[in-house]
Amino acid sequence: MADTATLEVKTAAELKSQPEEYRAAVEKIVISHAVNELYGAQVFDEPAIALAPTPYAKWLTCRVAMEEYHHHVRFRALAEEIGVAPERMDPSHKKPLSIFEFKLQTWAEFCVIKAIADYAEILQVEDLLHCTFHPLRNLGRITMPEEKFHAKFGKDFCLELIQAGRADEVQDAIDRYFPITPAFFGSSNSKNNAIYRKWGLKQRSNDDMRADFMNRVTELVEKDFGLRLPKLA
Ligand SMILES: [Fe+2]
Ligand SMILES: [Fe+2]
Repeated sequence: MADTATLEVKTAAELKSQPEEYRAAVEKIVISHAVNELYGAQVFDEPAIALAPTPYAKWLTCRVAMEEYHHHVRFRALAEEIGVAPERMDPSHKKPLSIFEFKLQTWAEFCVIKAIADYAEILQVEDLLHCTFHPLRNLGRITMPEEKFHAKFGKDFCLELIQAGRADEVQDAIDRYFPITPAFFGSSNSKNNAIYRKWGLKQRSNDDMRADFMNRVTELVEKDFGLRLPKLA
């Protein structure tokens, strides 16, 4: 990689003097986080409060929903600071990623989504921790412990269902939800990803991140849950 990957851009103000390609790449990353956090909160976390089976589960689900909306608010604030037009973050103007097209109907589905999809989110946030644009690096640091809590929430509640004799519900949710998740990491020959890595905005290729995800989810489903991961087409 050229010296572009060791660049340090410490503030939103410093971004203004960076090359056009760098600024456009930063905008795309900030927008994708702002939009995805909002989609997720709207279609999964907020509706899941009604599905949660006990007051304790409702309380924790409220906390997850609050944090996901807060992630959107934080990324959106950064987007506004760097001059992104609000309509570029409006989910109604953007086709949702396939992971958000799943129609949430049961508590078991929500637990599986948190255990699996929030792990995918952890991988994305992990890459931000070393980002050459420091405001994104800082957002990654603040967001990471909360994403880890969401993934643990999903794992713990899946285990609770399995121990209560409802493993078939968890397996069924995995069978239907897991196959749409690998696409979340983007295409193998993504031009955007190549630009992100050239500028040190991201560290890993889409395929590397997808491989990390597959390894971790395989361990979670087969070892921790004692269930099966469906074969991908
Ligand atoms: Fe989030
Ligand atoms: Fe999350």
